[in-house]
Amino acid sequence: MKAIVVTDQAAGTAGMKLSERPAPTAAINDVVVQVHASGFVPTELSWPSTWIDRRNRDRTPSIPGHELAGIVTALGYGTTGLSVGQRVLGLTDWYRDGTLAEYVAVEARNLAPLPGDVDVTVGASLPISGLTAWQGLFDHGRLQSGQTVLAHGAAGAVGSMVAQLAREAGAWVIGTGRAADRQAALDFGAQEFIDLESDALEDVGGVDLVFDVIGGDIGKRSARLIRSGGTLVSVIGPVEARPVDGVAVDFVVESDRAQLREIVSRVRDGRLRTNIGNVSSLDDAVAALNPTARRTGKTIIRA
Ligand SMILES: NC(=O)c1ccc[n+]([C@@H]2O[C@H](COP(=O)([O-])OP(=O)(O)OC[C@H]3O[C@@H](n4cnc5c(N)ncnc54)[C@H](OP(=O)(O)O)[C@@H]3O)[C@@H](O)[C@H]2O)c1
Repeated sequence: MKAIVVTDQAAGTAGMKLSERPAPTAAINDVVVQVHASGFVPTELSWPSTWIDRRNRDRTPSIPGHELAGIVTALGYGTTGLSVGQRVLGLTDWYRDGTLAEYVAVEARNLAPLPGDVDVTVGASLPISGLTAWQGLFDHGRLQSGQTVLAHGAAGAVGSMVAQLAREAGAWVIGTGRAADRQAALDFGAQEFIDLESDALEDVGGVDLVFDVIGGDIGKRSARLIRSGGTLVSVIGPVEARPVDGVAVDFVVESDRAQLREIVSRVRDGRLRTNIGNVSSLDDAVAALNPTARRTGKTIIRA
């Protein structure tokens, strides 16, 4: 099968190559999915799991990409809950070969049905961004209606989901980003916008929940804005500064079939809009994943 492979960590996305790889087979509880569309998180090639296995051994050449929409083509021994020919979307294991390929083997529990009226390009854009936002706001952040959320990078892939889901849950949403992101962030549901390059972050006053996708100095300054009992949720690694009288949580997104269904149902009825930028083919993926201009929205690769 055709796949994008990486072998050289130092080369970053410039080291991606379109190659021929053996098609995967389905292990116990796996399904093989014919990938129709795949997402890619721009930081993926800095994650250890792209390069080593769970026992710290080199696992290159590895196939990046961990979110997909496609069609089940084979079931492994003992696999239940999905059937051959079914449309699915989901999140694949960080340590296994991924979704920038024609086929991928995935544990069935990591997939959810993709309704026929949701396009595969949209489906592939949802698992990581949607689940990260959902888990950060509701599982880790315990968001309540009426609370104030500071959604960093609110025009980005995760941040745009955070802004929409927080708003729907009855929160007051303050989005942040670069000056050019203002209108997009407001369109995704933010009621206020802070341009991190020229506005004073401290002017937002107190907030109940910070959803941090940026970290560094922005993360540290955000911790100081958190009201008593509030939460700093980070998806970019361990937090460097904790709220004085609140909780700090960092987490890595996990697949969850019930939450994927919630996200997909919101896309179907228009409550949630996905943030797709460039759509490209697997043949043109290396160029698409090495953009020369600033990305606005997720890059999706269609196989
Ligand atoms: N732990 C997890 O489970 C998990 C899951 C998903 C994502 N993540 C991480 O979350 C981060 C965001 O992912 P994403 O897919 O949402 O990326 P994205 O689509 O690039 O969104 C990030 C947004 O924040 C903006 N931004 C970044 N730094 C900024 C700064 N200093 N000032 C103003 N705006 C800034 C970006 O603008 P520019 O593009 O101009 O920088 C972009 O609009 C990544 O580090 C990713 O690895 C973690």
